[in-house]
Amino acid sequence: QAYPFIAVVLAYLAGSLSFAVVVSRLMGLADPRTYGSKNPGATNVLRSGSKAAAIVTLLLDAFKGWLPVVIVQWWGERWGLGDGTVALVGLAAFLGHLWPVFFRFQGGKGVATAAGVILAFNPWLGLASLLTWVVMAVFFRYSSLASIVTAVFAPAYYLFGHGVAWTAPRALVISLAVMGVLLVWRHAENINRLLAGTESKIGSKKKPS
Ligand code: G3P
Repeated sequence: QAYPFIAVVLAYLAGSLSFAVVVSRLMGLADPRTYGSKNPGATNVLRSGSKAAAIVTLLLDAFKGWLPVVIVQWWGERWGLGDGTVALVGLAAFLGHLWPVFFRFQGGKGVATAAGVILAFNPWLGLASLLTWVVMAVFFRYSSLASIVTAVFAPAYYLFGHGVAWTAPRALVISLAVMGVLLVWRHAENINRLLAGTESKIGSKKKPS
């Protein structure tokens, strides 16, 4: 049965569209891989000074995670695709963002894409995660810290949301946990900067040392 495989490959290709790079290029801005944290993501695009570019990047990076998941959820049944494929497709889009085939496998940290995937997995989980990110960001003004904390909380919310954790669809739990671990790992440099007190705050154009 080739359909799950095809769905996963297409999701990976969608995830591989590094919108921070594409949007910056289209809007005549510098390549985000050359300044700030050098990360191709919305937070770093914001350091270019263009809020519009950052917002468009955020929305498109989230959309590329959300769309493949909802397509499988809404129409997957006719191709015999179930929860396992939903989980894998979300993970594939996320992995595409981290290691994009179109950009020499040099991708971002996956925050926006994971947000899109999570929102598609479960809108309530998406909302809770989004709120966690916003509260952390408003209080501490560090995008990375907000992302790291949310990455840890999202799988936990999902488990507790199912009351008895063991009733949660296992494939989705694994997918969320893998994304959480990879997200934190991709923030290793941010963690070092946070500990050293040199992480740049949201909106600041200062180059992180
Ligand atoms: O979106 C990634 C964010 O959590 C951190 O980005 O550019 O500060 O490393 P950045």
